[in-house]
Amino acid sequence: MPALYLLLFLAPCLSYAQDYAPPRYNLSLDLPPDQRWEPVLKHYNYTQVKEAMDYVLDKSLPKWVYASILPLADVELAFLVREPYSGEMKGIARTLGVHVGYVVALNLCYEATAFCTSIIAQDEKGNVYHGRNLDYNFPDILKKLTMDLDFIQDGKVVYTGTTFLGYIGLWTGQRPYEFTVSGDARERGEWWENAISAFFKRSSPVSWLIRDALNDDKNFEAAALRLSKTPIIAETYYIIGGTQSKEGLVITRNRDGPADLWPLDPLRGAWFHVETNYDHWTTPPPSDDRRTPAIKALNATGQANINTDTLYKVLSVKPVMNAITVYTTVMSAATPEKYTTRVRNNV
Ligand SMILES: *[C@@H]1O[C@H](CO)[C@@H](O)[C@H](O)[C@H]1NC(C)=O
Ligand SMILES: *[C@@H]1O[C@H](CO)[C@@H](O)[C@H](O)[C@H]1NC(C)=O
Ligand SMILES: *[C@@H]1O[C@H](CO)[C@@H](O)[C@H](O)[C@H]1NC(C)=O
Repeated sequence: MPALYLLLFLAPCLSYAQDYAPPRYNLSLDLPPDQRWEPVLKHYNYTQVKEAMDYVLDKSLPKWVYASILPLADVELAFLVREPYSGEMKGIARTLGVHVGYVVALNLCYEATAFCTSIIAQDEKGNVYHGRNLDYNFPDILKKLTMDLDFIQDGKVVYTGTTFLGYIGLWTGQRPYEFTVSGDARERGEWWENAISAFFKRSSPVSWLIRDALNDDKNFEAAALRLSKTPIIAETYYIIGGTQSKEGLVITRNRDGPADLWPLDPLRGAWFHVETNYDHWTTPPPSDDRRTPAIKALNATGQANINTDTLYKVLSVKPVMNAITVYTTVMSAATPEKYTTRVRNNV
C-alpha cells in the first residue's frame, strides 16, 4: 500500500474538528442494476477509491478467500449471486476498471468484523426510536467512503440507507413510515471458513438481507419474519424498529435461523434494548463492555426524554462511541425525515 497516497487521501479528514454529515446521493432503482452506481461513483476520484479498497481488502480478507473469489467469471457470478446484486457489482467493476471478483471480495470484507452498538427505544407516547454506531477497524479510511443513499423508484424514496462506497449491502436503513433496521456482528471463531462455504451454497450475505427487507417488505412484521428465518452466511444481530408502540425487536441470528427474539416490553419497564456484539442474555467481557455505559446513559435520559437527539447523545458516550466508531445514525420510521447520519471525529 503506498502510504504517502493514503496520507494525502486522509489529510482533509484530519482538519475537521467535529462530526459531519456524509454526502447523500440518490440511487435509482429504475435504472438497470449495472448502471445504478455510476452516478454515485462519479463524485469520487477512482484512483483514490481503488487505493482505499486495496487497503480494506489487504487488511481484512484472508489471502485464500481473495484467491477463491477473485477469479469468479460472469457465469459463476450469475449462478452464485442473484440480481440486483450481481448486476450492481458488475457495473461497479466496469466503472472502476477492476475485475468483478475484486468487487465481490470487497463486499464480503465488511461482513466480518463490524463492532457495533444498536439501540431501540420507545418514549412514553409510544414513538419508536432507533440508533446505531458502526465501529470498524481503520475508521479513517471508511469515514471517507461513508454515504447516505436514497433508493429511488418512480420519483419516490423507497428506502434510505448508510453504506461505504462500493459496498452494495446495508447495515443501516429505513423504509419510510414502515420500519428501521440495523445489523451488528455476532463474532465467533472460524468465521471465514463458514461464511465462504455458506456463500458458495448461495446463502445471503448478512447486509444483503437487510437490503432485501428494505426493498421488499411492506411492514415491520414482514421484515421481522424475513430477517429471522432466511439463511445467511454469518451469525449476526438484526435490530428492527417499527412505527407503533412495542414495535422494537432484537433478533439474534444463527446462520440457519433465529437463536433468540427479544422484543421491547414497555409495559414491564423494558422501554429500550441495547445490543452490541454479545448475546443479550450473557455478560459482555469487561474488556469490551459498551452495553453497561449505554444502559446507564439511557437510564439517566429517562423514557420521557428519549428522542433522536437524546439517543444521539447516548451513542456519543464513551466507550459506546470509541476510537474506531465510523458513524452514528439515528432514525425513527414514523418520521423518516429525521434520518440522520454523522461521521464521527472522535480522535
Ligand atoms: C486522483 O488521485 C490521484 C492519486 O491521489 C491523483 O494523482 C490524481 O491527480 C487525482 N485525479 C484528479 C482528477 O484529481
Ligand atoms: C433525489 O430524488 C428525489 C426524488 O425523486 C428528488 O426529489 C431529489 O431532488 C433527488 N436528489 C438529487 C440530489 O438528485
Ligand atoms: C437501569 O435502570 C434499571 C431500572 O431502574 C435498573 O434495573 C438497572 O440496574 C439500571 N442499569 C444501569 C446500568 O444503571
